[in-house]
Amino acid sequence: MRISKFEDYELIDASCGEKLERFGDIILIRPDPQIIWNTPKVDPMWRKAHAKYIRSTKGGGYWEVYKKIPDVWTISYKDLKFRLKPMGFKHTGIFPEQAVNWDFVSDVVSKSSGNMKILNLFAYTGGATMAALSAGAEVCHVDASKGMTLWAKENVKESGLQDKSVRFIVDDCLKFVQREKRRNHFYDAIIMDPPSYGRGPNGEVWKLEEGIFNLLNACSEILSENARFFILNSYTAGLSCGVMAYLLNATIAKNRSGVVFSSEIGLPLKASKLVLPCGSTSIWQASI
Ligand SMILES: C[S@@+](CC[C@H](N)C(=O)[O-])C[C@H]1O[C@@H](n2cnc3c(N)ncnc32)[C@H](O)[C@@H]1O
Repeated sequence: MRISKFEDYELIDASCGEKLERFGDIILIRPDPQIIWNTPKVDPMWRKAHAKYIRSTKGGGYWEVYKKIPDVWTISYKDLKFRLKPMGFKHTGIFPEQAVNWDFVSDVVSKSSGNMKILNLFAYTGGATMAALSAGAEVCHVDASKGMTLWAKENVKESGLQDKSVRFIVDDCLKFVQREKRRNHFYDAIIMDPPSYGRGPNGEVWKLEEGIFNLLNACSEILSENARFFILNSYTAGLSCGVMAYLLNATIAKNRSGVVFSSEIGLPLKASKLVLPCGSTSIWQASI
């Protein structure tokens, strides 16, 4: 398993369907359906949380606040800055488990001969976008949500990366990729972290199982001849590492030399040194 660690975020404990997390100075409790063990909640921080996300039976949910939380607060991952706030659907504006993929991106980009063009799909608040920009790549950031794209712009500014070469696009990912094909625009690397279910800006429905093969084939057509890598991340239950590797081998890697590797990604627990799985990542990387 590939594991993310960083100072400003800590997974303190996990039990009874909940995880106890520290985001900078703010302690939150959030539900996680895969936490099916009931280890005793001995860590005193369980009783010192600022807020807890309560799921409602009608879908969605709400934050139960016990201590004042700033409207927005900032945490850092290396030189990247993330503005956080408690959001709907238990979101906070960051997926800490993605740090291990941000490291991969900045490592390959910083070792490349420079000017890599990278496409980040379902790009959310821009973690991978900032990792690539900070390492010297040119990035196109695509997400269906105006709000998320604005938030990504704020994170890029907060991280002092606003003068770097970045394009922010609010669009449906498949539509955008198909248009890039028509325009003969090519990328040296593509990153995607699709949700299980989503909607494009004009209501285009995204269902991962139904759309992923088609989207990967479309992406394969806009990878440049010197393409270096392709990252597919998913936290969709039921989509195994093996299936993701098969998908990449049957599309992206089909006529390209290189390797496909796949693994779960996770976060280490402070309390037990065990690791909480947080989805999987499959990567195609060109042979050098
Ligand atoms: C949960 S996030 C992905 C997390 C992100 N990659 C990260 O780690 O920072 C999923 C994103 O996909 C976007 N999205 C959902 N459906 C989409 C679609 N059809 N086209 C483009 N973006 C979409 C959502 O707006 C959301 O920002």
